[in-house]
Amino acid sequence: MRKPLLAANWKMNMTLNEVKEFIKVLNDAQIDYKEKDILIAPPYIYLQELKKRLKKVKISSQNIYFEESGAFTGEISPTMLMSIGIDWTIIGHSERRQLFGDTDDIINKKLLLSIQKGLNVILCVGEKLQEREAGIEKELVISQLGLDLKDVTPEMMKNVVIAYEPVWAIGTGKTAKSQDAEDMNKAIRDFLKRRFGRKISNNTRILYGGSVKPENIKELMSRENIDGALVGGASLKPDSFLKIVNF
Ligand code: 13P
Repeated sequence: MRKPLLAANWKMNMTLNEVKEFIKVLNDAQIDYKEKDILIAPPYIYLQELKKRLKKVKISSQNIYFEESGAFTGEISPTMLMSIGIDWTIIGHSERRQLFGDTDDIINKKLLLSIQKGLNVILCVGEKLQEREAGIEKELVISQLGLDLKDVTPEMMKNVVIAYEPVWAIGTGKTAKSQDAEDMNKAIRDFLKRRFGRKISNNTRILYGGSVKPENIKELMSRENIDGALVGGASLKPDSFLKIVNF
């Protein structure tokens, strides 16, 4: 009932030539777009190229600012994205939280404005290694969600996908055990049920991200509460991303 979403987060990678090659391979590939959604989040400067040339793929930004326009050098607003036909953004990625000072309060502002302007949002949450070792990973993630989703209504949740990305699994080659990822995604779904009711909780897609590769995608996708993946490193080469898409 929840359509799988396989998403590539390219982070700060790829040159224009590599992007063009990727587009070519993806356009030639067999992908059952009725059965699954495919999304690519490239650096901003490639958004339009991808949008123009990959008609069936959802194209997303990796970040957004929480004001509509004004003196915010280097930032991009939801209104600007919508004006070029981009209706997805990632918000709250752990790299934004750790390296660029995105707090839960900032993430909440970004999320509210994005949804108000019509964007779909992939909201990322996840614990650090110390928090998992201390056994407080579920409390931590649920607390992040509570803050990030402040003032969000059930109606607005139609535009939200959640991505559970444990920080210790990102770019480390150390994937979460599929059981641990399933347990967390289940805890997230239970939270959504308490907060928004059964229907929203059943309908919201919850992804897993963190060292997803062609070798582990099938096992992850076999879990009841894992509705897709947010893939970093393994999404940079078209062959590897295609193996994940066609898991
Ligand atoms: P890796 O797949 O490289 O671990 O990155 C995951 C991620 O951060 C996706 O947003």
